[in-house]
Amino acid sequence: MEYITLNNGVNCPAVGIGTYMLSPADAENSVREALRMGYSLVDTANAYVNERAVGRGIRLSGVSREKVFLSTKLWPSEYENPRAVDETLERLGTDYADLLYIHQPAGNWLAGYRQLEKAYRDGKARAIGISNFEGKYIEELKTKWEIVPQFIQAEAHPYFTQKELRKTLDGYGIKLMSWYPLGHGDKKLVGEPVFALLAQKYGKTPAQIILRWHTQMGFAVIPGSRNVSHIRDNLNILDFTLTEDEMASVAALDKGERYYHRTDEQLASFAAWRPGFEKA
Ligand SMILES: NC(=O)c1ccc[n+]([C@@H]2O[C@H](COP(=O)([O-])OP(=O)(O)OC[C@H]3O[C@@H](n4cnc5c(N)ncnc54)[C@H](OP(=O)(O)O)[C@@H]3O)[C@@H](O)[C@H]2O)c1
Repeated sequence: MEYITLNNGVNCPAVGIGTYMLSPADAENSVREALRMGYSLVDTANAYVNERAVGRGIRLSGVSREKVFLSTKLWPSEYENPRAVDETLERLGTDYADLLYIHQPAGNWLAGYRQLEKAYRDGKARAIGISNFEGKYIEELKTKWEIVPQFIQAEAHPYFTQKELRKTLDGYGIKLMSWYPLGHGDKKLVGEPVFALLAQKYGKTPAQIILRWHTQMGFAVIPGSRNVSHIRDNLNILDFTLTEDEMASVAALDKGERYYHRTDEQLASFAAWRPGFEKA
């Protein structure tokens, strides 16, 4: 495994598994299998309504808790719940998260960030992060944070490399964790000719080339999958290195275009929605 050293000295694995849109049964299965095959980073969220299943997947894998870097996110409806962190940890079946994010700049997000800072100080989070806080949101948070976050999780892939955001991040040593690293499975992205060419050269798949590009950019990457063979492929990307020219040819695909366009109306609705947490 390769590691990213965070601005507080903690090491985070460069490759992990994401669990967005995975049902509890699929999340349990994917996490258990991923950890058994050597993964050590798992990303979930209150909003994925699979935290209990992720916790079960970790326990069933047989891998000890301290060997897993567990990342989760508070949802906006939880930002003013003083028990949000403890309830999240209870669902996951653990007494600390390795990385705790606030998921969206919605509702009283400053209260959410203060909960992260408290969790960090109390030893309930080894690192803290912001998710989807690009632009004016990170600019405002910069004037208010007491602890600089270690991570931002944001959409990033070869069509959208977050060039502007990275200028801000670099000033604080904040690392980027890419979501939609494979364009949420978009056939057009994965099918770009440059990936077929490099895949042939290195004996890899186009998806593996894209994921390697992320790690060489210094991003942590958390592809989601319910397919054990994809999960295996997605970890098997650390035995080759793209050259500088090859990295540039991938970056040349950057169109500054996201897949996901969040509106202010959506942000307002995020604050109003409450996840229907798993009962057991
Ligand atoms: N913070 C946020 O707001 C936010 C938003 C979105 C996502 N996320 C996080 O980021 C993670 C990744 O995003 P994502 O899962 O939506 O998108 P993604 O990783 O870009 O793409 C997942 C899709 O790619 C397919 N896939 C995975 N590995 C593959 C491979 N080796 N070859 C071909 N296809 C492959 C998967 O299908 P199969 O199941 O068939 O493999 C799935 O359809 C999420 O799981 C979540 O943890 C965070």
